[in-house]
Amino acid sequence: MSKSLFNTEVLKSEISQIRQFDEQVSEFGDLIRLTLGQPDFPTPYHVKEAAKRAIDDDFSFYTQTAGYMLLREAAADFVKEKYNLSYDPKDEILATVGATEALAAVLLTLLNPGDKVIIPSPFFSLYESLVRYAKAEPIFIDTSDSGFIVDPDVLDATMHEHRDNLKAVIFNYPNNPTGTTWNKETVERISTIFEKYPETIAISDEIYSEIVYDQPFVSLGEHLREQTIVINGLSKSHAMTGWRLGLIFAPRYLTEQIVKTHQSLVTSASSITQFAGIEALTVGKDDALPMKEQYQIRRDVVIKALRSLDFEIAEPTGAFYIFAKIPEAFAQTSFDFCYALAKETKVAIIPGSAFGAAGEGYVRISYAASLENITEAMDRITHYVNSKR
Ligand SMILES: Cc1ncc(COP(=O)(O)O)c(C=O)c1O
Repeated sequence: MSKSLFNTEVLKSEISQIRQFDEQVSEFGDLIRLTLGQPDFPTPYHVKEAAKRAIDDDFSFYTQTAGYMLLREAAADFVKEKYNLSYDPKDEILATVGATEALAAVLLTLLNPGDKVIIPSPFFSLYESLVRYAKAEPIFIDTSDSGFIVDPDVLDATMHEHRDNLKAVIFNYPNNPTGTTWNKETVERISTIFEKYPETIAISDEIYSEIVYDQPFVSLGEHLREQTIVINGLSKSHAMTGWRLGLIFAPRYLTEQIVKTHQSLVTSASSITQFAGIEALTVGKDDALPMKEQYQIRRDVVIKALRSLDFEIAEPTGAFYIFAKIPEAFAQTSFDFCYALAKETKVAIIPGSAFGAAGEGYVRISYAASLENITEAMDRITHYVNSKR
């Protein structure tokens, strides 16, 4: 088939390396998978009940493009109470089909061919493909030398270098894949830098905002409101990945354009899911807390095991990932390390290279799995690593 039939960037791109790796190691039979980027908990019962009521009450029609007003009001109150954010539910909040559609709608709205978008690396792979599909150019900043948190001076220098075509910077904290997050000081320093580049938009993917340990979550939308598009959603906070509900919070001049793209892509988010969302953001506003307690216990088990084996670990202050450097004794790529580990121990973890070049030499371990499986996996990894030294 003629190659010109397709968007060349789609042709060049591959299906997610995470999926590819998962398929390859499946041949090893029954594995303990610490690969998943989604909560292992069920959706809270009362949220499911709200959706069932919506079905029985025949809420089966298209909703407003931006989502039900009740949902936007619930979202506005939630982010005000939790993160001190101020967005008008009337025209500064959009309900989307997951954070994924939110990102697609935002990037399609902002980007012209030839625009540049800075992406701190390692990164969630969707960012690169969406930027490329829009014929824009990703510029990566390697954060592995600065504890996987973008160095403000390096960011400033990179923004300056590319200032002529620079449209946006995509941030993500708490971070997938590194589990690092920003404190108030980092948020303030980054905000100050953006003041020098008033034409550049910060796209802040805050989907893990409810899963931060031992410190408050500070949103970029609080400190850099007029230049920031906050992306969030219920996938991680309420264990609702399959329901597909995301949220965009942005000043009016941005949402009034994004809403057009969103309408062309999906018309609106699912009506039934939106009812579940209203319940989750009001009655269930603290539903993430008990899950977070469990994640923290599991996280500490992984940290203890890996540190005793000389894996260097990025400070895991959020989300449910540990990003660990493979000990030097293993002169292997991260793919080969993970492949051999899966083959010999039947424990699957993700090679860091799936998250960009800056992730090579590392592995991502998801602790969104049962404590029993995590403990068993750590025993097997300990045995494996010790047998190779
Ligand atoms: C950083 C990040 N952003 C966005 C998403 C997508 O979220 P959603 O399920 O809401 O589309 C994920 C899912 O893994 C993620 O890790």
